[in-house]
Amino acid sequence: MMINFNPQTSTFTIETQNSSYIITISQKGYVAHTYYGTKTGSDDVTYLLRQNEYPFSDSEVFREKLCLLDFLPQEYPMEGIGDFRPAALAVKNSHNHNAVELKYKSYSIIDGTVELPDMPHVFVSEADKTSKAQTLAIATSDEVLGLEVTLYYTVFSDTDAIIRFAKISYTSPKKDTPALFITRALSASFDLDNDNYDMITLNGSWARERHIDRHPIHKGMQSVSSNRGVSTHQEHPFLAVLAHHADYDNGDVYGMNFIYSGNFIASVHNNQFDSLRIQIGLNPENFCWKLSSTENPVFYTPQAVLVFSQQGLNGMTHAFHDLYRNHLIRSPFKNKMRPILINNWEATYFDFDTEKLLKIASEAAKDGIEMLVMDDGWFGHRTSDNSSLGDWYVNEDKLKGNLKNLVDKVNKLGLKFGIWFEPEMVSPDSALYRAHPDWAINIPGREPGLSRQQLILDITRTEVQQYIFDSIAKILHSANIEYVKWDMNRQLTDTASSTLPDDRTGEYFHRYTLAVYALQERLLKEFPNLLLENCSSGGARFDPGMFYYSPQIWCSDDTDAFERLAIQEGTVLVYPLSTMGSHVSVCPNHACGRTTPFKTRGYVALAGTFGYELDITKLSDEERRLIPSQIALYKNFSSLIREGDYNRIASFSENGEFDSWICVSKDKTKALMTFVQIFNHPNYKTRMIKLKALDDNKIYQISYPDEDQNKFKPLTLSGLTIKNAGLPVARDWGDFQAKLIYIEETK
Ligand code: DGJ
Repeated sequence: MMINFNPQTSTFTIETQNSSYIITISQKGYVAHTYYGTKTGSDDVTYLLRQNEYPFSDSEVFREKLCLLDFLPQEYPMEGIGDFRPAALAVKNSHNHNAVELKYKSYSIIDGTVELPDMPHVFVSEADKTSKAQTLAIATSDEVLGLEVTLYYTVFSDTDAIIRFAKISYTSPKKDTPALFITRALSASFDLDNDNYDMITLNGSWARERHIDRHPIHKGMQSVSSNRGVSTHQEHPFLAVLAHHADYDNGDVYGMNFIYSGNFIASVHNNQFDSLRIQIGLNPENFCWKLSSTENPVFYTPQAVLVFSQQGLNGMTHAFHDLYRNHLIRSPFKNKMRPILINNWEATYFDFDTEKLLKIASEAAKDGIEMLVMDDGWFGHRTSDNSSLGDWYVNEDKLKGNLKNLVDKVNKLGLKFGIWFEPEMVSPDSALYRAHPDWAINIPGREPGLSRQQLILDITRTEVQQYIFDSIAKILHSANIEYVKWDMNRQLTDTASSTLPDDRTGEYFHRYTLAVYALQERLLKEFPNLLLENCSSGGARFDPGMFYYSPQIWCSDDTDAFERLAIQEGTVLVYPLSTMGSHVSVCPNHACGRTTPFKTRGYVALAGTFGYELDITKLSDEERRLIPSQIALYKNFSSLIREGDYNRIASFSENGEFDSWICVSKDKTKALMTFVQIFNHPNYKTRMIKLKALDDNKIYQISYPDEDQNKFKPLTLSGLTIKNAGLPVARDWGDFQAKLIYIEETK
């Protein structure tokens, strides 16, 4: 990892372990993107800018500004001055003029990372500051507007990721200077010659989150975005641009992700010269941020993550996973085995009381489950989703003898206790709404739209934040509660705030996300040992912004083992297994009616933060018999799954028959492979699976850790043989069958 500046060529070179990112200050003072990819030599690579390729004049004359800017690859392209591709920055002045022209001023190279105020951001410890991270800050300005923009780039010694964000400052010394309005402020942008690239995005819906969508890049604009106030089920703040031939282990892949939990855009624009502009940042739709030189003179964009891998998609995945595990998740639980929980949502929905919960807890305790999570329905007079959000006091009809009584009894059974909240919401049928109807987000004179019978609280208001914080804190102080599931079950509409002046209405969506962060930050300060799990109707807020507060996020309301394969494959492409809430539930599955073997459900859930989401008192003896062995597997392999390198081996979406993945310890001495046979076909041979993630020179013993698989004989093979000739994986009888294969170096 290294950042340096070459004054002869006016070039900054940012190096990660396996990639170079090169920036040049162009002859006219623009910050030009020069190169990103596999490491180059130390030559002068400014020829890559083609500054002297002139369609309209001879090569001795400097290109006209307009055609230069529409051609020059840029780091932070600006609107209104001749680059007609999508801008990273657009600003309007008091006359509604939209031109902004940033020119280079100076640079600094800083040890460690740079803190981003009020937003999730990457970090290194004080002790690692000089050895593990470095940040380049490039200062630019538009003298006409009086605007300064600093572009930040952080690199780490232990992952091939680059973090980008911008600081936009308006610090005119004159008091009466009119305000500026930022209408577009992305976090990262770079240009790349198209090389027959494909693009991957993660798309879906409720209960079908983050399915991988790969397609060739066409001319013009292609993008994913959210204008729903959350990172959403539908589209995801991630994209990859990759060589058409790139696969799991080979080929160039550029990945981009956004450390943010609200409206975003991620896009690729392919222009007239077959040049790609790849961008990610806040969605400019419905965004307008007022910069006044006296109050609020500074705006920070959230952080974007750029990853380059020459080792295909698995290489990209490793870089994202290492970054998030080492430099974004703060929770004291991040390196710990998480308690195996049982959640009562799919077990009881709203129909529960103390007695029912205690029955579940006492049976769960017998099988080794470690925590009971009481989901939605314990407060106000909530017996369905029609009421009581906001009334965060215990429903005494259900929890007779109060919450402490229940929690103490659960603790006595040897289980921890966790609880569900949906803090950002209010039901029209609630004491809170009756007392403060104006606290719900609404546009005056307009009936706000309901979704799941609920309205959204205007959490940007300090008194609303205070109410939410006090309500949660009171409950958490009232008993020994060690886990909170923070849910959010609708999208933002009718956005307005009675506390924002008209010329700041365009700030609402971003301010809302900042308020979510502020609330969770405050909660964790008050309860530093709390295990917080974020959730949003399943996985609508599964994004790296939330990792800063919660080390795990509920991945999807679809707990069917087969549906989960595609959801988890897309999620794990970017996010560590240790962050992915994954539970065993009953069949027929409540989201899709499918029946799969209990064992398979366990193996699929094992790839995340393992738990149960069912009424254990109603399981068959055979299913109950499997629970202790599933728990033993989780305990045995939890650190390998949490800390190892995840590699995708095969995808059902491509081969139509089976899914397979492997977690390999960093030193490649141990690995756990999961194989799910979706369909069985009669009269076929054993499959040979070629695994590239092991060490060619090590000799491995292959075994089957689950007692049900003892029929397979242990094998001893070299990494090289496994890579080139393959590992035998026998076919199983029936569909949706799964196996675990444990691979360990022999001593
Ligand atoms: C949506 C979540 O994803 C579910 O797990 C559950 O907590 C419900 N909300 C409760 O309303």
